Amino acid sequence: MTRLNPKLRPNSYLASSDPTDVARMEDRTFICSKEKGDAGPTNNWIDPVEMRGTLDRLFDGCMRGRTMYVVPFSMGPLGSPIAHIGVEVSDSPYVVVSMRTMTRMGVRVWDVLGDDGYSVPCIHSVGAPLEPGQKDVPWPCNKQDKYIVHFPETREIWSFGSGYGGNALLGKKCLSLRIASVMGREDGWLAEHMLILGVTSPSGQKSYVTGAFPSACGKTNFAMLVPPAGLRRWKVTTLGEDIAWIKPGKDGRFYAINPEAGFFGVAPGTSKKTNPNCMAMLRENVIFTNVALTPEGDVWWEGMTERLPKRLLDWQGQPWTPDCGRKAAHPNSRFTVPAAQCPSIDPEWENPDGVPISAVVVGGRRSDTVPLVLEAFSWTAGVYLAATMGSETTAAATGRVGVVRRDPMAMIPFVGYNMADYFSHWLKLGRLAENRPRVFCVNWFRTDENGRFIWPGFGQNMRVLRWIIERCQGKASARESAIGWVPEYESIEWKGLESFTPERFRTVMAVKHDEWKRELNAHDELFESLKDRLPRELQLRRELIHLSLGA
Ligand code: OXD
Ligand code: MN
Repeated sequence: MTRLNPKLRPNSYLASSDPTDVARMEDRTFICSKEKGDAGPTNNWIDPVEMRGTLDRLFDGCMRGRTMYVVPFSMGPLGSPIAHIGVEVSDSPYVVVSMRTMTRMGVRVWDVLGDDGYSVPCIHSVGAPLEPGQKDVPWPCNKQDKYIVHFPETREIWSFGSGYGGNALLGKKCLSLRIASVMGREDGWLAEHMLILGVTSPSGQKSYVTGAFPSACGKTNFAMLVPPAGLRRWKVTTLGEDIAWIKPGKDGRFYAINPEAGFFGVAPGTSKKTNPNCMAMLRENVIFTNVALTPEGDVWWEGMTERLPKRLLDWQGQPWTPDCGRKAAHPNSRFTVPAAQCPSIDPEWENPDGVPISAVVVGGRRSDTVPLVLEAFSWTAGVYLAATMGSETTAAATGRVGVVRRDPMAMIPFVGYNMADYFSHWLKLGRLAENRPRVFCVNWFRTDENGRFIWPGFGQNMRVLRWIIERCQGKASARESAIGWVPEYESIEWKGLESFTPERFRTVMAVKHDEWKRELNAHDELFESLKDRLPRELQLRRELIHLSLGA
C-alpha cells in the first residue's frame, strides 16, 4: 500500500490490485448444498463431494512462503445476542487490515467465543505460494483459478485465488448474506442486501426504513441523504448502507441491525455535491483501493471534482492526463472506512436490539414502466414487487446498456439457497408478524422522450421519503392504481422544488398499461425458472395485476 499525504488524508492508504482481480466474481461463486435443488436455478451449484476434492487440491500448499493470519471477527456488536462470529484464516495482509475496519475483530472475540462458542469457519487464500527466493508481487492472486465456495449445510466458506472485496473479506457477502440467509431461514429471520436509515420528522418523531437496491442505484447516497431546501427540518441518519439483519420482535415488529462496522463503498461518482456526508467521512483512516493518486499524495476518482486534475497516477500507477483516453480510477474502485466516522451515523447504530422498521423500500434502475413511488397493497403484494424487481444493466456489468436484469430483493448473487424458498420465507415471516413494515417501490431513474432523467434525485429523494414516512404514520393520502397505492401531486411537499410541475409529476408517475403487460410477461419468465417451488401467492398476485390492467 502507498501511504497518502498525512496532511491531506491522515492515516490513509492506497492499494492497487492486479488488473485481473477488481470485482466480485459471480460466475466463480458456488453454493454447494447436498441437493442441487436446494441451491436453486439462480445459484451456481457443484456437488459438495466433488468440490471438496477440488478445494483439497487447490489449498494444498497454497500459502507456502506467506504469513497465515487468524482473524476472529463478530458480525454485529460484540457479545450481542443477534451477532454471529466467524474466524477467517487468510494469507492476505490487505484482507486482515480491511477486516479490522469492516468487522469487530481481534482478541476480544475469543473471550466471547469461550471454549464452546460457535463460529463460522472462513478459509481464504490468494492462491499464490512463494517458492524460496521468489520475489513477491504487490497484489498476489491466482490468475487461473478462483473459487468462492459456500457449504450451507455445514456453514463453511472457502475462498481461493482472489484478494478483492466480497471475494476475500468473508464476513461481508459470504457470511452476512449467503450463510446468514441460510441461518435466518432455519431460525426465523432475514439477512438482506439492504441499507438502514433513520428519519426524524420536524415534530421529532423517529422512524426507520430499510432499502434494497441493486448495485449502481445510489444506495450509499440514499443512506446518507441530506434533505434539500424546503425540507431542512427533516433529518436523515445512517445505520447501514449494504446489509441488514432483520428479526421479528416480541411486539410483532421487525427489528434491524447492520452487522458490519465499516463501509466498503464505490468511489467513482462520489462528490461533495452527490454525497457530502460520505466525502466528510472519507477524510481520514481510509483504505482506498484502485483509485488514482495525485502528485500531492491524495486520491482522486471520476466525478469527485468538476475540474479534472492536470496530472495523476492512474489506478495501475501509470501517468494520466485528462486527454489520455483512460479512466483514472477503476469503475469499481473502493473506500474502506469505519462507519462511526460518518457524520450522519445514527446514535442507535450499535444498539444490539436493532431498530424497529416502519417501511421496506425496494427499487431498481428503470428508464420506463416503474413509477417514481408506489406502496404495495399488502405484504404479499410487497413481496411480489420485491421479488420481481429489475434493474437496467450499466455497461460495466454486461457490456450492454439498458437490458433489464431481474434481481429479486437485490439478492440474486447473495441468497444462499433456492430463490423460490426465499420468497416463501419472506411471505411466512410477514404472516407471523402483526406489525410488519409497509413495502414501497421507488424508481429514481425514469427518463423522458429525450432520454433525460425526469426526477432530480439525490437530496430531492427526501420528498418521496417524506411521503413514505407519512403513509406509515397514516398521515398522507394516496390513490389506487392497478399496481399499488400512489401519491397525488398534492400529497408531496414541493417547497423548494416548485419547478417540478404537475405535468412532470404525471410523467414520472405514469403506469402505462402496455408497458406493464410487457413487464408482467418478464415476471412470468422469472417465475417459470422457479416454478418447482414458487409460492402460489406470487403467481396469483401476478394474475390479479394482469386482470386489474384490463387484459
Ligand atoms: C457491494 C455489492 O459491493 O453489492 O456491496 O456488489
Ligand atoms: Mn452490496
